[in-house]
Amino acid sequence: MSPTPVLLDCDPGIDDALAIAYLVAEHLAGRIELTAVVCTAGNVGLEDTVANACAWLDLAGAPELPVAAGASGPIAVPHVLTPETHGPRGAGHAQLPTTTRSTDPRDGARLWVDAARSHPGELVGIVTGPSSTLAHALALDPALPRLLGGLVMMGGTFHGHPGNTTPVSEWNVDVDPEAADAVCLAWETAQADDPAVPAPLWCGLNLTERAVWTPERSERLLEASDSPVARRLTEALRFYFEFHDSVGEGYLAQVHDPFVAWLALHPEAVVAGPANVRVECAGEHTRGMTVADVRGHRGRVDNARIATDVLVPGGPDAVLDEICAAIVSLAGRPD
Ligand code: BDR
Ligand code: CA
Repeated sequence: MSPTPVLLDCDPGIDDALAIAYLVAEHLAGRIELTAVVCTAGNVGLEDTVANACAWLDLAGAPELPVAAGASGPIAVPHVLTPETHGPRGAGHAQLPTTTRSTDPRDGARLWVDAARSHPGELVGIVTGPSSTLAHALALDPALPRLLGGLVMMGGTFHGHPGNTTPVSEWNVDVDPEAADAVCLAWETAQADDPAVPAPLWCGLNLTERAVWTPERSERLLEASDSPVARRLTEALRFYFEFHDSVGEGYLAQVHDPFVAWLALHPEAVVAGPANVRVECAGEHTRGMTVADVRGHRGRVDNARIATDVLVPGGPDAVLDEICAAIVSLAGRPD
């Protein structure tokens, strides 16, 4: 069986960097084919997300693959950056080498469409940043939901779990709610037409906040690997620990993005339930909220599966062990 083709749409970002390293390791091990990387403005501006993605791909020793710049900001509102969360350039305390990797001339939305059309029914899309580029791709080719083999979103928060940006919103959705809602609507339309269209898996804070990277794990990573990618990742993570500490979570880091990348590659290990999900774009106090209708109140088709747990002995910690081991397997390139 040929390895599953995967497209990552990311906004690196510290935990995005871990997702990139993990996916490169899985690619080099022959378990997936990392087909394309799309960069979206999010944690930092577009120029930085592109430069960071390329630098992390370099450090991880990724082969040449299309890397494209996508949306430079949200659809309808000004872009809010998060230097306090990911550092001024999105790599925390890590100094990233200047990349020599050239970016793809296509726009990120076009790359989404081309990658899906090259692997009809097979490509798994993983989104670890705002949905802005994906929303543009859906406008470019409304058949996208039918063309993808799967879509896994790091976004939202469900079942009453509090937000990390407002009391009810998660950051990736909050920064561009119109885009996230366009994704929900596109799949609702596609699934109303054809129930066989696979529903996106929404991985929200209710699950991803359980993926906690501790300083001890960074130490263990450095004991096991002295590679440039491992060193840079731990430098970046130190900033993420400081951020989480500053907001009262403790000196640790919730690493949503690599955890979600792992979930995308292990669908059999994910506990998820169907729902109709839409994003609140108007509410004065609730803008950015992911509203899940699990009881059919609105009489609309289910357009999502909401991840609630991971079926692995040892839970999210064991998943992080696997991610760490994958990163250790990377010899990477010299920095
Ligand atoms: C999400 O927001 C970003 O800051 C992280 O990279 C992650 O994708 C968590 O809310
Ligand atoms: Ca991210």
